[in-house]
Amino acid sequence: MSRLAGKVAIITGAASGMGLAAAELFAREGAKVVATDVVADVLEKEVAGLAGDVIAVPLDVASADAWAEVVAAAVSAYGGVDILVNNAGIHLAKGILETELDEWDRVMAINTTGVWLGMKAVIPQMKARGGGSIVNCSSIAGIMGGAADGHGAACSASKGAVRSLSKHAAQWFAADNIRVNSVHPGAVFTGMAQAIGITSRAAMAAYDNGNTPLAPHAGEPMDIAYGYLYLASDESKFVTGEELVIDGGWITH
Ligand SMILES: NC(=O)c1ccc[n+]([C@@H]2O[C@H](COP(=O)([O-])OP(=O)(O)OC[C@H]3O[C@@H](n4cnc5c(N)ncnc54)[C@H](O)[C@@H]3O)[C@@H](O)[C@H]2O)c1
Repeated sequence: MSRLAGKVAIITGAASGMGLAAAELFAREGAKVVATDVVADVLEKEVAGLAGDVIAVPLDVASADAWAEVVAAAVSAYGGVDILVNNAGIHLAKGILETELDEWDRVMAINTTGVWLGMKAVIPQMKARGGGSIVNCSSIAGIMGGAADGHGAACSASKGAVRSLSKHAAQWFAADNIRVNSVHPGAVFTGMAQAIGITSRAAMAAYDNGNTPLAPHAGEPMDIAYGYLYLASDESKFVTGEELVIDGGWITH
């Protein structure tokens, strides 16, 4: 119950799915959690139900000004930042030919630019603390094509960029004792699946048509949160620039 004792963690997209599971788990493991999301009212309600040391701070990850406010809130409440989980993201099930430019820009702004802005905002704090751990949520769509990308051209591009940006940052900030890794979820039943009408894990497994060999053929948010926890904690102190795939075996096809 103390794998993150004494650490301060900012988590994005914490009002739902994997981000909410991470906020719950990190607080349970002794972290002081700054839970953030663009849907401030939902975030407030969800965070109120969590045990431990958690504050809710509104954040649109695509806004540099909002990032500055979140880091200021973390410093003011808890004295600094040790961990950043760039978890927030959106999906758009449109291919190259169907995607409009404004849709493309929105996906990239949240899924990729948001990750860059988050790292840019927290790294000076981490340097001042003598190190830190950044965990960026990519996807199996950042590694492979086909059904794994949910017919999302912009999503694939955005998640591939998160994968390579994580390696870039891992190299450039290793000397500052800042580790940067990416997590690559497969099919996980969350708000994102519900947004396209999938109503249960079983329905998600059916939707993905046998791509995930490991039962129950669709993950749950806590499956990913445990990956975030390992990479955020000092247990992974010799791991950086790495890709942790959590997908029930999808990419082994
Ligand atoms: N669910 C899956 O099968 C799956 C697969 C691969 C990758 N992912 C990735 O996992 C991450 C978590 O997604 P999830 O599945 O838990 O979905 P979710 O929809 O349940 O949660 C995503 C959260 O991000 C928030 N968000 C959206 N835009 C934002 C913005 N501009 N600023 C701040 N927060 C914003 C949403 O409000 C929501 O609370 C995402 O990066 C997603 O791309 C999900």
